Amino acid sequence: MLGNLKLATKFTLFLGLVFIIAILISGFALSKALEQKAKDEISYRGQILIQMINSVRNYTDVRVAPLLESDLKTDNHFIPEAIPTFAARQVFENLRQNKEYINFFYKDATLNPTNLADKADDFETDVIESFQNQPDLSSLSGFRTMFGEQLFYSAKPFSITNSSCLQCHSDPARAPKSQLATYGRDHGYGWKLNEILGTQIIYIPASQVYASAHQAFSLFIGIFIAVFTLVILLINYLLKWNVIQPIKPMAQLAQKLSTDTINSVEAEEFERKSLGAIAKRTDELGQLGRVFQRMVREVYAREQRLKQQVQALRIEIDQAKKARQVEEIADSEYFQKLRQNAQELRNKWSDESKN
Ligand code: HEC
Repeated sequence: MLGNLKLATKFTLFLGLVFIIAILISGFALSKALEQKAKDEISYRGQILIQMINSVRNYTDVRVAPLLESDLKTDNHFIPEAIPTFAARQVFENLRQNKEYINFFYKDATLNPTNLADKADDFETDVIESFQNQPDLSSLSGFRTMFGEQLFYSAKPFSITNSSCLQCHSDPARAPKSQLATYGRDHGYGWKLNEILGTQIIYIPASQVYASAHQAFSLFIGIFIAVFTLVILLINYLLKWNVIQPIKPMAQLAQKLSTDTINSVEAEEFERKSLGAIAKRTDELGQLGRVFQRMVREVYAREQRLKQQVQALRIEIDQAKKARQVEEIADSEYFQKLRQNAQELRNKWSDESKN
C-alpha cells in the first residue's frame, strides 16, 4: 500500500509517525520530569517558609517575650503577642495575603500540643514517627488526601533547640499563669530539648503542583510541535524543489524514449529547456541531468544513423532483387529456348551468306 504513495507523501507520513512516537515518549518523560521539578520546587519553598517561621519564633522568644514577661507573670489576661508561635502564625497569615501563597497551609503538628488544634492526626503521627526513627531525615514530602482533596505536603522535624522555650513547654509550674488559665495544664508540657516533638508541615493542593507542571509541559510540547511541523514542511518543500521537480523531466524523457522515437524538435526541447536547468547544478542531480542530456544527444544521433543505414540497406536490397529477377529470367526454360532459336537463326544466316 505504501509503495503506491508519492515520495513527498511517504516522507510526510514517515516523519509524522516518527514525530508522534517522539512526542509520546518525550512527552511522557517530560511530564514526569516536570512534575518532579514542580514537587521539588514547592517542597523547597515549603522548607524555606518553615525556616522563616522558626526565625520569627526565635525573634519573638529572644526580643519580644522578655519585654512582656512581667505582664505575663502577673496579668491574668493572656497576651498572645508574647507567644513565639502566635507571632509565627500571624506572619504566615500575612504571607498568605500574597496571591502566590494563598493556597499554602501551615501546621505545627505536635504529639503533645499546647493548643489542641495542633494535635497531629494519624497521618502526621506517621510522619513524626518516620523522623523519630530516622534522625538523619531532614525533610519529607509527598501526597495525602484530606477532606476529599489531594494535598501535597512538605514536612520538617520539630524539636526544641533553645532552652528558653522550655519555660512555657516543660513544667506547668514554670509557665505563666495566664497560659495555664487559657490552655490548661494537661497538655503541651514535658517537652525536652532536642527531642522530636512534632513536625512542621506545609500543605498545598496537589492541583497547584500539577497546574504549574502542566503549564510548563504545554509550553514545551507546543514548541516541540511547532518545530517539528516546521521541519516536516521544510523537508517537503526542499524535497519538492530539489529532488522531485528536477527528476520529473528526466522521468518524462525516459518514458518517451522507451515508447517512442524522438525527433529533432523534441530532442532540442529536452536538451535545452527541461534538462538545461538541472544540468547546471553542481550536485548529484546535476550530474544525472548532464548524463541525460548526453543521452538525448546520443540517442538522437544513433537514431539518425540508423535511419540512414536502413535507407542504404533498402537500396541494396532493391538492387539485389532486380539482379535476381534478371537471373531468374535468364535461367528460365523459355529463355533458354529463345536463346537456342536465336543461335540457330544466326547459324543459318551465316551459312546462307557463305553460299
Ligand atoms: C511565653 C510562653 C511561651 C514561650 C516562651 C514559648 N512558647 Fe511555644 N507556645 C506557647 C503557647 C501558649 C502556645 C499555644 C499557642 C496557640 O494558641 O497556638 C505555644 C505553641 C507552640 C507550638 C505549637 C504547638 C502547640 O503546642 O500548640 C510550638 C511548635 C511552639 N510553641 C514552639 C515554641 C518554641 C520553639 C519556642 C521557643 C523559641 C516557644 N514555643 C516558646 C507558649 C510559649
